[in-house]
Amino acid sequence: MTAAATSAATSATGGAGSHGPDATDADHPAMVSTGIGVSYGGVRATDEVSLTVGRGEIVGLIGPNGAGKTTLVDAWCGFVPHDGRVEVAGRDVTGWRPHRRARAGLARTWQSVELIDDLTIAQNLSVAAPRASTDHIEATLKRVGLGGEGGSQPAMLSLGHRKLAGVARAVVADAAVVLLDEPAAGLDPAETTALADVVRSLADDGLGVVLIEHDTSLVFRLCARVMVLVGGRVLTVGAPDEVRDDPEVIAAYLGTQS
Ligand SMILES: Nc1ncnc2c1ncn2[C@@H]1O[C@H](COP(=O)(O)OP(=O)(O)O)[C@@H](O)[C@H]1O
Ligand SMILES: [Mg+2]
Repeated sequence: MTAAATSAATSATGGAGSHGPDATDADHPAMVSTGIGVSYGGVRATDEVSLTVGRGEIVGLIGPNGAGKTTLVDAWCGFVPHDGRVEVAGRDVTGWRPHRRARAGLARTWQSVELIDDLTIAQNLSVAAPRASTDHIEATLKRVGLGGEGGSQPAMLSLGHRKLAGVARAVVADAAVVLLDEPAAGLDPAETTALADVVRSLADDGLGVVLIEHDTSLVFRLCARVMVLVGGRVLTVGAPDEVRDDPEVIAAYLGTQS
């Protein structure tokens, strides 16, 4: 493990046990995860992964296909049984079911956009946040640049706009951290830029963001810190420049990219 990875792991455990009664206290990191491991039968899909995501921080998560990136998101969200501990906004959510983790402020998008086709965009957001007012839903759509599209059906929107609607749906219910699983896949350069602007503005609003992307130029542009996962394990965590120039990262991942 590099010095950066060690410091990330250390900060992941610092603060545990010191939480006040207000579990949504903005002083707590958006997410603290420690020692996350997942096995699918005999396959160890992720092992001993620790990551802390600060408020307003965008952390990149990169690695080859099958590295365990999506598995990690599934573990953080409680969709698969896992080892280790997950804390959201200062609250220990380990062992909680996905919907409770979501209510604690853990939001995610999926690799494939999963909007409900028969509903309008606004109704899709309502399903995710049943108690949200019409104004809040409209404001959330505005946040992602889709103000005025609330009445549209998903099929009427471009792929780029559907992806943004997926992001809006993820954050509509007051998230502390949002996990974006390959949000730019299939987008053209203009759509990718629009998405990048939205990701940055979510972080500027204080959300923690984990950005999983194959488009490493997008990751290096947006993230102050990047974690590289290979074979389910953390190869390194560091600033974009360090990661980009790391011979181990180049050998294991970047060198294999076209
Ligand atoms: N539901 C599953 N059942 C069995 N194996 C799985 C399942 N999901 C993922 N895997 C395996 O876990 C490893 C990590 O996969 P995944 O998390 O999808 O990687 P990534 O998102 O980095 O491409 C791979 O070896 C994959 O084949
Ligand atoms: Mg994946």
